[in-house]
Amino acid sequence: MGDRPRVFVARRIPDDGLQPVSQACEAEIWPDELPPPRDVLLRSIAGCDGVLTLLTDRVDAEFFDAAGPQLKVVSNYAVGFDNIDIPEATRRKVPVGNTPGVLTDTTADLAFALLMAAGRRVAEGDRYVRQGRWKTWGPMLLLGHDVHGSTLGIVGFGRIGQALARRASGFGMQILYHDVNRLPPEVEEPLSATFVPLDELLARSDFVSLHVNLTPDTEHLMNAERLRQMKPTGVLVNTSRGPVVDHDALFEALRDGVIFAAGLDVTEPEPLPPSHPLLTLDSCLVVPHIASASRATRGKMAEMAAANLLAGVRGERLPTPVNPEVYERG
Ligand code: GLV
Ligand code: GLV
Repeated sequence: MGDRPRVFVARRIPDDGLQPVSQACEAEIWPDELPPPRDVLLRSIAGCDGVLTLLTDRVDAEFFDAAGPQLKVVSNYAVGFDNIDIPEATRRKVPVGNTPGVLTDTTADLAFALLMAAGRRVAEGDRYVRQGRWKTWGPMLLLGHDVHGSTLGIVGFGRIGQALARRASGFGMQILYHDVNRLPPEVEEPLSATFVPLDELLARSDFVSLHVNLTPDTEHLMNAERLRQMKPTGVLVNTSRGPVVDHDALFEALRDGVIFAAGLDVTEPEPLPPSHPLLTLDSCLVVPHIASASRATRGKMAEMAAANLLAGVRGERLPTPVNPEVYERG
């Protein structure tokens, strides 16, 4: 008992991950739906060999100090890791794991669902019916914009952006993309994707979908000026991170008809309070950060997060480390 590694798991994750962790470790699992309060988190990780975190748990110098120098791994149950100070983890030689790959298609599915729903006013139509406002078939009722044959601009052309492009080709969409670097023809050609500068992408696209990591460079990437570069018929979709979009600017752009609609899986802040101005607008569709939320995918994410955690506490290389530099330093 005494020599089993001690770990803290910051939320109940699917059994696919919880079981192997509980079997191999002395595991404390935070049972609530809400994240552990900061002071409880810091107290709970003291002396742990490994911690399994969620994107709602901030991992920084204070976290590492609270855990102690024996900490061997932080395994994040997410592909994104903007909740973690990676340079600080690396400085302390603590490997950090994430769950790339398994959620790519599930997230792209939801991005496409938001694109279609916002463009064709699906959620608004459902509200209209429930409110008893449906009187007759109307020639002008709830007109939206066609998805098929339109132009899709993908900002951030990594795994998820490329998976979205594959879906869009089935709808005959023309695909433009922007990324820090142009991708090689082996990536572009099968997807019929054209690299363009961001200004041009915003001006030409009917739908703009964001798939960048959140970094100081991408924070408020979609500000008032960039929203104005979009078409007045344009639809913005965000399944990346909330702070990539300036929400005050988005509210004004939707209210003033600068763009047509938005579909958001992520917001700033999260949760978005019900009193937020964006929620007064029918043209803004919001879902609660569920892009990877299929049963199968959440199970696979749990398996991967467990594999990273267990490798870490055993002193083995993580299957999917975010900061492989920790291994190069010896
Ligand atoms: C979810 O947003 C994730 O990063 O996995
Ligand atoms: C619409 O329902 C149509 O038949 O055109």
